[in-house]
Amino acid sequence: MGLLLDGVVMQTILISTGIFLTKQPETRAIMNWVKQEHFTASASLHGGALVANYPWDGTRDTSKHYYGCPDDKTFQHMASVYSRSHYNMSLSKEFEGGITNGAFWYPIYGGMQDWNYIHGGCFELTLEISDTKWPKADELPIIWEHNRMSMLNLLASLIKSGVHGRIFAADTGRPVPGSVMIKGIDSKVSASSTFGDYHRIVAPGETYEVVASMRGFRQKSTRIRLEQEAVSLDFILDPDGADGQTKLLPRSNDRGCRCDNDNAAKPFHVHEAHLWLYLLIVSVLLALYVVFKRKTVPRLLAYRHSSSLRRPVAV
Ligand SMILES: *[C@@H]1O[C@H](CO)[C@@H](O)[C@H](O)[C@H]1NC(C)=O
Repeated sequence: MGLLLDGVVMQTILISTGIFLTKQPETRAIMNWVKQEHFTASASLHGGALVANYPWDGTRDTSKHYYGCPDDKTFQHMASVYSRSHYNMSLSKEFEGGITNGAFWYPIYGGMQDWNYIHGGCFELTLEISDTKWPKADELPIIWEHNRMSMLNLLASLIKSGVHGRIFAADTGRPVPGSVMIKGIDSKVSASSTFGDYHRIVAPGETYEVVASMRGFRQKSTRIRLEQEAVSLDFILDPDGADGQTKLLPRSNDRGCRCDNDNAAKPFHVHEAHLWLYLLIVSVLLALYVVFKRKTVPRLLAYRHSSSLRRPVAV
């Protein structure tokens, strides 16, 4: 985890493990895939313990202590969803609530959990799903039964929590691959380049300021209140002015919706979309009015019977 470490530690890791020099083709393929797909979340299944483990896995000084990432609260929420839905993970005597911060348990470097979060904006858990490291084949059905609801609930919670939506360019109306941040949390998720859709998981029960940005556009932000449901939030970004700097719209705070739920989040953006539509309709009506004034009513009627009926009116 190069990014997590300072120079000296990184050197030690480089020398001791060589992980940066000898990436296997499979590892490289997974890395490219994670970067390319913008996964929202992932889990890797392990055995030998019963606990839902979340980032960071490594500390800066390699010592074993709790080392939370910027999205610590959200990860605790995700891990708890898994643990509480499990047959008996949350009853663990070793791990409070059946969850643990990776570095608090034992630090590791070069794992997929930290990498996915840093480089893929993908929230990965490491799920230790059975005390038995190498279970016998006939134990697998019971392990599956114990974990089945956890897996389903983890998936459901990803859909039902956080903030999701699309980012559009105001000038072209096309989706743009911008990025979304939550104020006070130092991490970003990217929207896809095809649909401009983003999915940002955040722990429920709080108010957040969501900021969308894209190079060449002015960033926009709005406040949302997250309860037990996800919030849908689309952003329409205005192209940047001549100064080429992205800056916060001054009015973003007072017009930002203090949304209490999914439905309340929509009106502002719907209004904004309507505004563009109104402007368009008004311009078309104005153009028609000018045409109508120039050519008198009889001429216009005659015009309608002429062969040039389908051609756009040139003023
Ligand atoms: C959970 O259940 C399994 C199977 O019955 C058992 O082996 C394990 O000790 C239990 N763990 C806890 C934390 O209760």
